[in-house]
Amino acid sequence: MAIIEGWLPPTCENWELICRVWAYFPIITTAQWVLDWYPQGKTSTESRFNIDGKIGWATMESAGFITLLYIMYALPQELGISELPWGNWTLAGCFVIHYLYRAVAAPLFLNPSMSPMHPIVWLLAFGFQVMNALSIGGYLAGYGPLSQQHWIDRSELMFVGLVIWCWGLLGNMFHDDDLREIRRAANRKQQREAKESGKPVESMGKIYMIPKNGLFRYVLHAHYLCEWIEWAGWWMIGGWAFHPGRSFLINEIMTMLPRALQGKRWYEKKFGKDKLEGRKAVIPGVL
Ligand SMILES: NC(=O)c1ccc[n+]([C@@H]2O[C@H](COP(=O)([O-])OP(=O)(O)OC[C@H]3O[C@@H](n4cnc5c(N)ncnc54)[C@H](OP(=O)(O)O)[C@@H]3O)[C@@H](O)[C@H]2O)c1
Repeated sequence: MAIIEGWLPPTCENWELICRVWAYFPIITTAQWVLDWYPQGKTSTESRFNIDGKIGWATMESAGFITLLYIMYALPQELGISELPWGNWTLAGCFVIHYLYRAVAAPLFLNPSMSPMHPIVWLLAFGFQVMNALSIGGYLAGYGPLSQQHWIDRSELMFVGLVIWCWGLLGNMFHDDDLREIRRAANRKQQREAKESGKPVESMGKIYMIPKNGLFRYVLHAHYLCEWIEWAGWWMIGGWAFHPGRSFLINEIMTMLPRALQGKRWYEKKFGKDKLEGRKAVIPGVL
């Protein structure tokens, strides 16, 4: 049963159109190079329209994996496909694992606090997730490879891709957690001081320090870099022909790179250039 006839799940013609349009997403991100306004996270602003950070992240980022799972279920039925090959499910599984972490575990259970976000950021991220899931879902659930042999023939490269994907995900989680530890440590200190002085514990939101562990020694956005490595590995699992994997990687880099450069300017302003000890924004020794 289709949720939106012709679009969710998409017909082949509509899916091809979605993929073509999605490939032009980097044009939208040019706005990030010219505007310094990005009302989320470190650069969030006060607004009565703001959405709570945790709720915002959980809802906008869930849209992708839920849409993908729905397409994986509904499109084969519409096309009369009895079973999708295991390679298609491997790619879908990796995507879902990442977003169970990013959209559910991280904001709702792991992150000590998250700054509020403006609804515009929420809408753009939600749109990103839906477009991405339509593009990937169409490929994996009916319009891409449908034979087991396709995956058997490239199982060695798939294995290498899986290893890269896995290390990228672990690196992303490790560096995310290093940022969490800054706030957990600040909270522990406040609890101790409150116990000694009898004063109430202050909020731990908006406490920032320069992260120093792992790749943070070289770049201020090591978690972004690891995420790019993760999705590069994922594209490799699918192979050159897996164009939705390529679009996802390119579109992520095109939106996260200007954000990382803006983040570096923010660190320089807050802590001073000398305190950053030559750290780059996201690519060690380069950018
Ligand atoms: N931003 C994007 O466009 C984008 C796109 C795709 C995937 N992702 C992934 O999503 C994850 C989060 O991205 P993000 O852009 O929100 O990252 P971020 O700005 O680095 O923030 C991540 C979390 O750490 C906190 N934090 C950041 N810097 C800190 C510091 N110096 N000291 C203490 N706490 C700090 C933030 O708190 P506050 O919220 O209070 O600032 C937030 O809870 C990353 O793993 C990234 O790879 C991001």
